[in-house]
Amino acid sequence: MDYFHYSENLLHCEEVPLSKIAQEVGTPFYCYSEKTLQHHIRVFKDAFAPISNLICYSVKANSNLAVLSTLFKEGAGFDIVSAGELERVKRVGCPGERIVYSGVGKGRDEIKAALEYGILMFNVESRSELLRLNSIAGSMAKKAPIAIRVNPDVDPQTHPYISTGMRTNKFGIPFDKALDLYTEAAAMEHIEVLGLDCHIGSQLTSLTPFVDALKRVLHLEKKLSALGIKLKYMDLGGGLGIPYEEEQIPPHPEHYAGVLMAELVDLDLTLILEPGRVIAGNAGVLVTGVEYIKQGEEKQFIITDAGMSDLMRPALYGAYHGLQPVVRRFGREESVCDVVGPICESGDYFARDRTLPEFQEGELMAVRSAGAYGFVMSSNYNSRPRAAEVMVRGDKFAVVRRRETIAQLLENESIF
Ligand code: LLP
Repeated sequence: MDYFHYSENLLHCEEVPLSKIAQEVGTPFYCYSEKTLQHHIRVFKDAFAPISNLICYSVKANSNLAVLSTLFKEGAGFDIVSAGELERVKRVGCPGERIVYSGVGKGRDEIKAALEYGILMFNVESRSELLRLNSIAGSMAKKAPIAIRVNPDVDPQTHPYISTGMRTNKFGIPFDKALDLYTEAAAMEHIEVLGLDCHIGSQLTSLTPFVDALKRVLHLEKKLSALGIKLKYMDLGGGLGIPYEEEQIPPHPEHYAGVLMAELVDLDLTLILEPGRVIAGNAGVLVTGVEYIKQGEEKQFIITDAGMSDLMRPALYGAYHGLQPVVRRFGREESVCDVVGPICESGDYFARDRTLPEFQEGELMAVRSAGAYGFVMSSNYNSRPRAAEVMVRGDKFAVVRRRETIAQLLENESIF
């Protein structure tokens, strides 16, 4: 459910026509709906309300301060993966006890900063990281609170680049080694064992892999308990998919919550979840202008002013994003075309061989479902300044990140 809709043939975000924003801000820009973000986080939180839980929105999905602040006000905590993300959640006022820290490559300074701030726990991904945490916490006369991220070796049936819970992936501790590492961790002077963590992948459209993984980690939890290692938190990561295409509808958060809670019901554990895409994905669009229509040898190309440097999901994963005209006109012919950006790579496309209503030069196009892993993965490739970000609240909007300037692109460089 989102708040992007046509009204009087103009695509609106809540009550603001996207064409009005384009006039004031220029293109391309990302536009986020505050009400959609609020709705998504509420639905997700309500679904898990029957059990003790902490919802830690995964900052990497969309880390704009306005987005984080909206979610924080709704009671979300955060899942971070860097000192940069820590700084962002600090800026919106999030206390340490609502922060978990994931990632395979936490640097020394990053660990120090998180220990200083007093985060809830580190999701540890290797024995080396555990040793490093113990030693840094010791030097600060602290104890590092941890969960061990276990790799349950379950196939999430998603794109290989975003599948993380299989034995061939770099993530987590191999399932068979987890017990030994927990025993070692429990004996360390500056480590406090608090939980168990597992994240198997992203954009999952079936619940079976989640349940399989949960069953495996609960089995491990029982063994730990028998050894006297009592956990407080069970962190099941993120991963619930969203509908990018109408014909592919992933499970609703309530359904997802239902199957997870059924497994957890008799346990005295607080459930932590790290949803990213399901909160932000359909709360944002990328609005781009059509620069040129070009008739190629074999097909037509719609050339837009946004490209893979703005939204790289199609180029990187062959991902599908819905494309809509911002101004709806009836009686348009349809044709099969490629929608491509200005970047000098053939992989720079938003759609290939897609049947779309005919577009004209100068028109606006909305790229749907771009609120997660959109702006955050953008780059300055081809020396293109990154797009502006806008947030809408009812009939008002604000620029929540100014468009970069060419001067900013060059600011850190010098000629030797
Ligand atoms: N927790 C951990 C440890 C993660 O690695 C991730 C995502 C999440 C939570 C949030 O997962 P979500 O609920 O958003 O599925 N760039 C890719 C997605 C990469 C996901 C990385 N990790 C894409 O555009 O599809």
